[in-house]
Amino acid sequence: MKIFQKYIALITFMFMSVYIWQMVNRINLTASNNKISSQNGHRNWKFVDKPCIVDNWTRIDQTAESLNREIFCDEFAEQSDILCRWYLDQQNITDPKTCLLPQDGYRVPNIVFYVTFGHYNFTLLHYMCILSAKKIQRPLAIYVIGDVQPLGKWWRKLCQDVSNLRFIRRQQPKVIFGIHVYWVAHASDIVRLQILLANGGIYMDTDQIFVKSFNPIRNYTITMGIIDRYTGMGNAVISTERHSTFLQQMYDNYRTYNSTNYYANSLKFSYELWERNHKALHLESLKFYRPLWSELDKLYNTTEFNWRKRYAIHIWSREKIYPLPETISDVDKLNTTLGELFRHVCYGDSRLRTSKM
Ligand SMILES: *[C@@H]1O[C@H](CO)[C@@H](O)[C@H](O)[C@H]1NC(C)=O
Ligand SMILES: *[C@@H]1O[C@H](CO)[C@@H](O)[C@H](O)[C@H]1NC(C)=O
Ligand SMILES: *[C@@H]1O[C@H](CO)[C@@H](O)[C@H](O)[C@H]1NC(C)=O
Ligand SMILES: *[C@@H]1O[C@H](CO)[C@@H](O)[C@H](O)[C@H]1NC(C)=O
Ligand SMILES: *[C@@H]1O[C@H](CO)[C@@H](O)[C@H](O)[C@H]1NC(C)=O
Ligand SMILES: *[C@@H]1O[C@H](CO)[C@@H](O)[C@H](O)[C@H]1NC(C)=O
Ligand SMILES: *[C@@H]1O[C@H](CO)[C@@H](O)[C@H](O)[C@H]1NC(C)=O
Repeated sequence: MKIFQKYIALITFMFMSVYIWQMVNRINLTASNNKISSQNGHRNWKFVDKPCIVDNWTRIDQTAESLNREIFCDEFAEQSDILCRWYLDQQNITDPKTCLLPQDGYRVPNIVFYVTFGHYNFTLLHYMCILSAKKIQRPLAIYVIGDVQPLGKWWRKLCQDVSNLRFIRRQQPKVIFGIHVYWVAHASDIVRLQILLANGGIYMDTDQIFVKSFNPIRNYTITMGIIDRYTGMGNAVISTERHSTFLQQMYDNYRTYNSTNYYANSLKFSYELWERNHKALHLESLKFYRPLWSELDKLYNTTEFNWRKRYAIHIWSREKIYPLPETISDVDKLNTTLGELFRHVCYGDSRLRTSKM
């Protein structure tokens, strides 16, 4: 009996000691803001001098200074979708655990994002392109990042049809390395780099449509495509892990930004970087940017283009030579490659849908 009581007392003592030791540690840590060692893997308290993903981010994007530091700085930040935390913060939801990226074996997180600045009406083309992200790539979340939400019925329909679509508010950057950013397109070039450096993922232009899942290329550290050697490296599609050194070099090149040289920082410099080191990138030029703008008839006036083995197709909507479909019933009877692509996305079946039956 006595031995048993001693035994109980000893165990109690041991538990008490461990508890007190933990308390003392906790007080020490809180008091001195020391770095933690999270041996037990549990979520702990916050530390001012702990390296934080937002510090890297602030170095490339001053607007990140205004972000709520506590949302981004914990030991799970590196394994989390930072855009998810940013979005939840704007929704006043503080549950960063829901933003953990699944360990799915790929380097590039399966998130897709778009960048948009200024008030404009979304068209059926934008709707189809973003719908293709949902239907073809099936990402964890789709983000549209911009200063104001797009307008119009196609944006409203998109919000209804794509339940994991999230709009994140962000100012349009006016300067880069102290130099005035004149063009909206350049602001968009810069923001996509900032976000890819901080978070990784798949960036798409709103007139670039998914045709096939990107999963076979999601394990390359970075994938881009050359439009042609005179135009340079496209930046309408970028699939990358975070902290890419290639993108960091592109970003640092903005120190010499000059708005007059329209494509110097985006298309030209990245092409030069690739020329210096062909191993720096995985290229999918033909599977991202064909047909080219010089072969628009293949997209808008015939059906012979073999799009099925491509990852994505650029719709080159700014050329405005051919009319774009404006309604779903236009799409149903559009006998062109574009019609096939839109039906492929909408119905999973590219055949014409004429109401002859
Ligand atoms: C900061 O960026 C560097 C490379 O640019 C990376 O190695 C490091 O892990 C990043 N640190 C954090 C906390 O994100
Ligand atoms: C979040 O909280 C801020 C400040 O209280 C408020 O201005 C904002 O409207 C809230 N956002 C949402 C989505 O509820
Ligand atoms: C991706 O690459 C890593 C490291 O080489 C490897 O362990 C992993 O199995 C690859 N994942 C897929 C899905 O191929
Ligand atoms: C958007 O479309 C609406 C209705 O078609 C039109 O009244 C409005 O002027 C358009 N807005 C812009 C910014 O183009
Ligand atoms: C920007 O480039 C243009 C054309 O190349 C040149 O005339 C101008 O001096 C440059 N501006 C600066 C600030 O370097
Ligand atoms: C489309 O192709 C047809 C013949 O295939 C041709 O007659 C027509 O001019 C083309 N349309 C345009 C706008 O290029
Ligand atoms: C669609 O266009 C192709 C040529 O691109 C033509 O061969 C075919 O007959 C057309 N189909 C219909 C239903 O008009």
